[in-house]
Amino acid sequence: MMTATVEIPSYVRSERLKTWVNEMVALCKPARVHWCDGSQEEYDDLCDLLVANGTFTRLNPEKRPNSFLARSHPSDVARVEDRTYICSLNQDDAGPTNNWMNPVKMHGILDGLFDGSMSGRTMYVIPFSMGPIGSPISYIGYEITDSAYVAVNMRIMARMGRRVDEALGESDVFIPCAHTVGQPLEFGQKDIAWPCNPDVKYIVHFPEERSIWSYGSGYGGNALLGKKCLALRIASVLGRDEGWMAEHMLILGVEDPNGEKTYVAGAFPSACGKTNFAMLIPPQGLDGWKVTTIGDDIAWLKPGEDGRLYAINPEAGYFGVAPGTNYKTNPNAMKSIESNTIFTNVALTDDGDVWWEGMDGAAPAHAIDWQGDDWSPDSGRKAAHPNSRFTAPAGQNPAIDPEWENPAGVPISAIVFGGRRSTVVPLVYQPINWAFGVYAGATMGSEMTAAAFGKLGEVRRDPMAMLPFIGYHMASYFNHWLNMGRRVSQPPRIFNVNWFRRDSDGKFLWPGFGDNMRVLKWIVQRVNGHARAVESPLGYVPTYDDIDWTGLDFSREEFHALMAVERADWEREILQHEELFIKLYDRLPKEFLAIRELLLSGLWRSPQHWELPDYAENH
Ligand code: OXD
Ligand code: MN
Repeated sequence: MMTATVEIPSYVRSERLKTWVNEMVALCKPARVHWCDGSQEEYDDLCDLLVANGTFTRLNPEKRPNSFLARSHPSDVARVEDRTYICSLNQDDAGPTNNWMNPVKMHGILDGLFDGSMSGRTMYVIPFSMGPIGSPISYIGYEITDSAYVAVNMRIMARMGRRVDEALGESDVFIPCAHTVGQPLEFGQKDIAWPCNPDVKYIVHFPEERSIWSYGSGYGGNALLGKKCLALRIASVLGRDEGWMAEHMLILGVEDPNGEKTYVAGAFPSACGKTNFAMLIPPQGLDGWKVTTIGDDIAWLKPGEDGRLYAINPEAGYFGVAPGTNYKTNPNAMKSIESNTIFTNVALTDDGDVWWEGMDGAAPAHAIDWQGDDWSPDSGRKAAHPNSRFTAPAGQNPAIDPEWENPAGVPISAIVFGGRRSTVVPLVYQPINWAFGVYAGATMGSEMTAAAFGKLGEVRRDPMAMLPFIGYHMASYFNHWLNMGRRVSQPPRIFNVNWFRRDSDGKFLWPGFGDNMRVLKWIVQRVNGHARAVESPLGYVPTYDDIDWTGLDFSREEFHALMAVERADWEREILQHEELFIKLYDRLPKEFLAIRELLLSGLWRSPQHWELPDYAENH
């Protein structure tokens, strides 16, 4: 079988890069090499190629201009956490929450798998920058891949192409990312619409080498290596070593009626409505307030000279979950995906548009489901896969913040942690200081939804929403957080929220979505010194009168139920924190034990059933 010779564009000058690409070509043995320039023309050509190969269906240009639908192999529909490895030299450095293998052994396995893996295929070389090109906070990566689907998605999700090669110049500082779908084509063999390896998958990170190798999957975070692999797992290691933070956080701006802007970052586990929160539209009655989006998934935070933390969104697009997205839950997301969007594993309507469960209006009488089969509402199956996605350029969000590409980042005033808890955790509280806030983030949890592993309803501890994304020992990461609080003189204030508390009949106590603005308004006013709070056993909380209820009929009693703290529930909760701490025992920050004790003593000073005081009566 013929192997390509590499034609390296004349503007590529990094010797380390050239050597690495040549080595990967020699190993993977592709038939052709295509060095991506990132142009629109190249994108259009690749989309045409994907249509010709059957990977893409072009959607009706009148309904979804320049948009496409892809259907993946049914075995390749989500991130594969059990196949994801952190291969540090020392197993202790990966910690008990990560899969680990000796890096020499893992390289042996990967070399075997990658050998000839691209035969008959084209290798795409994708230069990409996570963060605005040239920002001191940004990082450059190079992904080699045999998937044109990956190349076009990467052009939406990151700054990609020649301008990145030029920004790299002669430097050897970049993250090499090797990806193959793991399905070589024998001579003359016809390709299939979604090549992947149904049996063998590896998503591997080498933190000391700062490199990524991904084998066997073409889907999302397994294959678009700039996102979870580089911008979280490898970047969390870079941040630890260099004194900054790579976090699984949205970033939004809140503008008050006087035009004052406050930036807030938020960490929520997968499937907790993060994209909706990042694009929130304030409800009627709070019309003077405006929310703008910097990012919906990842934040890189670095200390500024003024002692504040400055954040950028390293991504350039949204890889959002489609089901449940509609004009009511997230109008800005719906507008972001009107054109120039790649849809994966949603349903195709008879008029050439897309559909998914939870979209506005009635379900279509007939559609083609995510597996390519005929579907109707009574077929008893989902038309779209629950983890089906849209890939859309961030610039298409009508609520994009004007500063979203500012290379200096935006100053973060508040960090919000929030899990999905039907009981125990109140709507909002503010831990009393940075260390208590870090504790709250470290112990946050989420009840399992069908999409996550584990038993439905069980609480999965997901520290800072980073459980699947931390590139080193989780407890060292907690120490890094505590260190960052010592390093910056004006750290953001930390808050904990829970939009998902239910009453004893299982009914949600809080309307959520746009009404989350009421809580966000209190948070923003609080960090700016304009909002009152009272003490609760967990920290500072607003009373009923401190929340703006304009336009919503919500009683004092309902709010008190949402904010109540039950000592017995919290005793059980703290015992579960203990389970996490025991697992992380060898590196757990000493502060955490003290904070646990202080939390307990706060609970014991309060009544069994703690309820908000009525502010008006108290003052
Ligand atoms: C995501 C996730 O896809 O967090 O963003 O799982
Ligand atoms: Mn995410």
